[in-house]
Amino acid sequence: MSDKLIIFDTTLRDGEQSPGASMTKEEKLRIARQLEKLGVDVIEAGFAAASPGDAEAIRSIAQVVEHSTVCSLARANEKDVRAAGEAIKPARSGRIHTFIATSPIHMEKKLRMAPDEVVERAVAAVKLALEYTDDVEFSAEDAVRSEMDFLVRIFDAVIQAGATTLNVPDTVGYSIPALWGERIRQLIERVPGSDKVIWSTHCHNDLGMASANSLAAVMNGARQVECTINGLGERAGNASLEEVVMAVKTRRDVFACDTRIDTTQIVPTSKLVSSITGYPVQPNKAIVGANAFAHESGIHQDGVLKHRETYEIMRAEDVGWATNKLTLGKLSGRNAFRTRLQELDIVLESEEALNAAFARFKDLADRKSEIFDEDLQALVNEEVVTNVSEHYRLVSMRAHSETGELPMASVVLSVGGKEHSAEAQGGGPVDATFKAIEQVVRSDTELLLYSVNNITSGTDAQGEVTVRLSKGGRVVNGQGADTDIVVASAKAYLNALNKLHSGSERAHPQV
Ligand code: KIV
Ligand code: ZN
Repeated sequence: MSDKLIIFDTTLRDGEQSPGASMTKEEKLRIARQLEKLGVDVIEAGFAAASPGDAEAIRSIAQVVEHSTVCSLARANEKDVRAAGEAIKPARSGRIHTFIATSPIHMEKKLRMAPDEVVERAVAAVKLALEYTDDVEFSAEDAVRSEMDFLVRIFDAVIQAGATTLNVPDTVGYSIPALWGERIRQLIERVPGSDKVIWSTHCHNDLGMASANSLAAVMNGARQVECTINGLGERAGNASLEEVVMAVKTRRDVFACDTRIDTTQIVPTSKLVSSITGYPVQPNKAIVGANAFAHESGIHQDGVLKHRETYEIMRAEDVGWATNKLTLGKLSGRNAFRTRLQELDIVLESEEALNAAFARFKDLADRKSEIFDEDLQALVNEEVVTNVSEHYRLVSMRAHSETGELPMASVVLSVGGKEHSAEAQGGGPVDATFKAIEQVVRSDTELLLYSVNNITSGTDAQGEVTVRLSKGGRVVNGQGADTDIVVASAKAYLNALNKLHSGSERAHPQV
């Protein structure tokens, strides 16, 4: 059996199915580039048939990604498979991932198909996919509740049709490690030709066991794990990439395989995904939570100081927790700025964008004595990530809080190039600011989420704000960063409004 474990990342597909996490094409591209840098083997970039926006995002990712396979999901029907095949065409290495449900409940109640028809559809989809690429994956949706004999039959049929990867999903997060491992073992043992394909697993986290189940599958012969950054995904999410990768790396004695992930890119990738999707990472989350390497009790601190391995099984720096690296200061020039961006692999499309980012850097350096890599990332985020035309722009604002008084804010906004001003009172300065913005914009949106994270430590740190707005079934996330969190909030709110205005957000893949 191969000692290579294939890491199939589905943050941009299953992850995007988290409510409110739908991303613009530019955001997906940014994450795809980072996933490539992280070293994932396969990037599931989307579900081409879901919408023209999804197909376009997959195509764009296929055009730029060189070192990972780019994959599109497709239901087992002609329209979906052709859409996936067209979307992955520009890829150096492209995969079609086709699926159909195989459990009695799904076949009867959802598909309303007899088992024979399900097998026929699966075989036809795999054959059609092979017209576009020789890298074809087949998934038996809801394999966890499927009958073993039927799974053996359908997997046998798709291997004969030419599928090269067979994925066994626990679609509803129902399994437990011992049973899931056993299911994978039996399938590999019983399906004819199973040694010619890669066995894969895709586990959901409804009972909190997605990573454990995936690892049990690996111990029983699976050589591909489908996972997401931060465990993002439908409902309670998917197996989290960082947990699976670090378990395999840390317990080499247990798992007879390894990945090609550059683990030092794990934390930067986690931060990027969290900031783009607006899904914060819980502080006690394994590997990527802010407290994952923090030792609070005196006994632990004492032990770690004497000998780190007394309480640490991994090194924080191995997963990319850099001790905030001081990068630049007030006196740093344009060249130093450009060089550091290059070292961080931040690509600014034009000299103009560099100049604008440098101006923001100088402005930030006036207010914050030490500028860290994370500050630079946030600074160029506004320039690069959103790439949304600025119909609404913050010209200036004032917010005022005083004990015993109602907070108030006044804003001057540019709307389509014309300046408007307004002022409002609110429950707090952020509330007052949003109300003042709304007096000008009258967007008729609903605020679904407001969250603030500090980018680095210290009270002069930049706050990064995420705002999620919904209007007429469309949901967008906006981001803004500033040392003043009220200003960051205004920027985030306007960023979300700009996305709604430009229509750059895409539909939820399942709508
Ligand atoms: O959870 C699931 O079954 C899926 C399939 C499409 C692989 O996401
Ligand atoms: Zn899934």
